Amino acid sequence: MQEIGIIMNGVTGRMGTNQHLIRSILSLREDGGVELPNGERVLPDPLLVGRNERKLRALCEEHGVDRYAVDPDLETCLDGDDEIYFDSQVTPRRPDGLRRAIEAGKDVYCEKPLAGDLDEALDVTRAAERAGVKHGIVQDKLWLPGLMKLRRLLDQEFFGEVLSVRFEFGYWVFTGHGQPAQRPSWNYRAEDGGGIIDDMFSHWSYVLENLFGEVESVYCLGKTHVPRRVDEDGEEYEATADDAAYAVMELEDDVVAQLNSSWTTRVNRDDLLEVHVDGTEGSAVAGLRDCKTQHHANTPKPEWNPDTPTDHDFTEDWEDVPNNREFENAFKQQWADYVRHVVADEPFPWDFAEGCKGVQLTEASYRSWDEGRQVAVDELPL
Ligand SMILES: NC(=O)c1ccc[n+]([C@@H]2O[C@H](COP(=O)([O-])OP(=O)(O)OC[C@H]3O[C@@H](n4cnc5c(N)ncnc54)[C@H](O)[C@@H]3O)[C@@H](O)[C@H]2O)c1
Repeated sequence: MQEIGIIMNGVTGRMGTNQHLIRSILSLREDGGVELPNGERVLPDPLLVGRNERKLRALCEEHGVDRYAVDPDLETCLDGDDEIYFDSQVTPRRPDGLRRAIEAGKDVYCEKPLAGDLDEALDVTRAAERAGVKHGIVQDKLWLPGLMKLRRLLDQEFFGEVLSVRFEFGYWVFTGHGQPAQRPSWNYRAEDGGGIIDDMFSHWSYVLENLFGEVESVYCLGKTHVPRRVDEDGEEYEATADDAAYAVMELEDDVVAQLNSSWTTRVNRDDLLEVHVDGTEGSAVAGLRDCKTQHHANTPKPEWNPDTPTDHDFTEDWEDVPNNREFENAFKQQWADYVRHVVADEPFPWDFAEGCKGVQLTEASYRSWDEGRQVAVDELPL
């Protein structure tokens, strides 16, 4: 069977190990490889790269992977025959890794965000285009079952005219005082690429664009609600990055999006992400897996009267959208598509230019917060 070598850099990290190695590449190997349009299969063959030999060896032993290299500068790895370079390192290290791989003629795939700022993201994109390599970026939320159900509703014109959407994302991330934090500490240090705007707006960019239309402007207020946290070594540190963001965006066709993103909120909703869509003909609320709808014909007619207790249960007026299919892991599905793109030239629209849009929205949102005003999101200078 045909094999395709994949250099996986940053694979000892949370995303690298769980989503990309175990749930994607190893799972695709267990399935017998990625099926190509001609019915043949190609088997991904990972080469794990990093700084820490102990961690890499342990990962290989635990998961039956036979190739690893302690090569933080990638020098020997990029000289080899592996066709794809994948990067899930911390964000500030990504552009350098990608540029080296592009220079070595590798096809490149990476985690979001593409880079810490737009100039660098554009530079990496132009380098990939000049070199003629195939480039792709993780846009995993598009394969969440809940959002795929929203896609189905949109395709069937369930909403009529979409008026507005509301994102409620977040949960309480422990500060590390008393109980260990459940996310890496760099996420709360701006100087290390942290911040909820940096982290989440590169997702919101492609989710909004793919489902509801391009973002035309943003007003965003960020906050660092919790100023001190405790890191992996038990040391207290100053949290310099935003841990909550409150944004209003205007999309094409007059759609308004409101997005609350927070690591300092306690969940009182069905899921960690909830997307509420209101349209002239119907509304829907999607979580990570489920989605419920209310059609215009089933819409109750509430009257405002706080003097009497409400006897109507508004949550009962919604209907579940059925699965009607199997949903695979989001990261795995996109990996399979990227491998088909590299090996069989299948279309793959989630390229570095899309990654640039995520960084652009992030930058516009920070500028909006900084200047206290609405900021236009222009066309990409590519
Ligand atoms: N798609 C998603 O839903 C999603 C979710 C979380 C994070 N991410 C992205 O994935 C990336 C990694 O996030 P994570 O949560 O896995 O972080 P992590 O801290 O768990 O892992 C980071 C990886 O980078 C490596 N690294 C860090 N500093 C390094 C250095 N100086 N030299 C060489 N290697 C270094 C680490 O060894 C590790 O392998 C980030 O860019 C983040 O934005 C994406």
